[in-house]
Amino acid sequence: MGPGLYIHVPFCARKCAYCAFFSRMAEPGATEAWLGGVARELAELPADFVPETVFIGGGTPTELTESALARLLELIHARVRLSAVREWTCEANPGTLTAAKAAQLRGAGVNRLSIGAQSFDDATLRRLGRIHDAAAIPAAVELARAAGFENLSLDLIYGVPDTSSATFRASLAEAMALGPEHISCYCLEVEPDTPFARWAAAERVEIDEEEQREQFYAARRELSAAGWNHYEISNFARPGRECRHNLLYWSGGEYMGVGPAAHSHWRGRRWGNTAELPEWRREFTEALEPEAKARETLVMGLRRIRGWGRGEFRERTGYDYEVLRGAEIARAAEAGGLVVTPERVRLADGALFVSNSVLAELV
Ligand SMILES: C[S@@+](CC[C@H](N)C(=O)[O-])C[C@H]1O[C@@H](n2cnc3c(N)ncnc32)[C@H](O)[C@@H]1O
Ligand code: SF4
Repeated sequence: MGPGLYIHVPFCARKCAYCAFFSRMAEPGATEAWLGGVARELAELPADFVPETVFIGGGTPTELTESALARLLELIHARVRLSAVREWTCEANPGTLTAAKAAQLRGAGVNRLSIGAQSFDDATLRRLGRIHDAAAIPAAVELARAAGFENLSLDLIYGVPDTSSATFRASLAEAMALGPEHISCYCLEVEPDTPFARWAAAERVEIDEEEQREQFYAARRELSAAGWNHYEISNFARPGRECRHNLLYWSGGEYMGVGPAAHSHWRGRRWGNTAELPEWRREFTEALEPEAKARETLVMGLRRIRGWGRGEFRERTGYDYEVLRGAEIARAAEAGGLVVTPERVRLADGALFVSNSVLAELV
């Protein structure tokens, strides 16, 4: 799989109550400065960098004004060799996607939109601090289809405090009824320094893990029964519509990240940009020792429901996973966290919801 390009748009209309992604309110001066930084970084991409996937994420790319979005798309066309691109995703918020922006994106070659729906219940959307209501979601899907997008993804969040499993399942049914090609179902994570973290500390919200587990397995059951491919812990696709860019991350591939808080992995090195505006810098450059890199690839790839084939892993990393982590794999299998056959290792169905604790044992 060829490399990917990630571009971070660090602006949002308003911060959602759960979100720790790096973003600020967009102001004209800040957008100008950011575009300047993006232009510089794009100009510094290696000459032999020919991405197969592009992902414009954030933040909220659709928070950019039409003129700022046009400049970003022009910069990408001027400075990136796009001839090999097969999938070009842009994240979109139902509250800020307009027909004009959808047309601009599609016209520039973006062929996949990832729409942050989160829930189809207005009370849940308010609780999450979203800027839009439920009615904005089908409207955004319609706009995107009218602009010619044939590949749409919807993000949902489950396990929201004070939201019942019935409400989540109703949202899931509405998402499916809109006919997207891809659905992500994320478990609500209480991130440090967010309103949810403060509410949890003050015991004003309570996370019910049993309910979260129930909602996760309900999504897995209902989407699988309807022919969706559950291909990564939080991700479901119509066959053939798995997100290539994210699969690249999970299989240890190479990518370049542009913009504040973006990360890169290229030619055995890794670095991250600082989460700062108006200017950011590269923070660390780490030469990856092959064995450490292989261990990391093992863990990342196990997020995929099919796990790793022995031959595939050896081909990708040069190592046999049993040689790298044989004792730990055996222990996790014994405890019911992994399923191991002579040719494959994967998370056990019953461990998908607690994957973090299973995978932590293999790091
Ligand atoms: C970077 S956001 C981009 C989407 C776009 N800004 C929007 O919100 O419409 C990507 C997705 O991450 C998910 N997300 C962000 N913070 C989360 C959290 N604390 N717990 C669970 N999911 C989260 C949301 O589903 C969100 O749509
Ligand atoms: S979820 Fe999306 S819109 Fe909300 S704060 Fe995070 S990046 Fe911004």
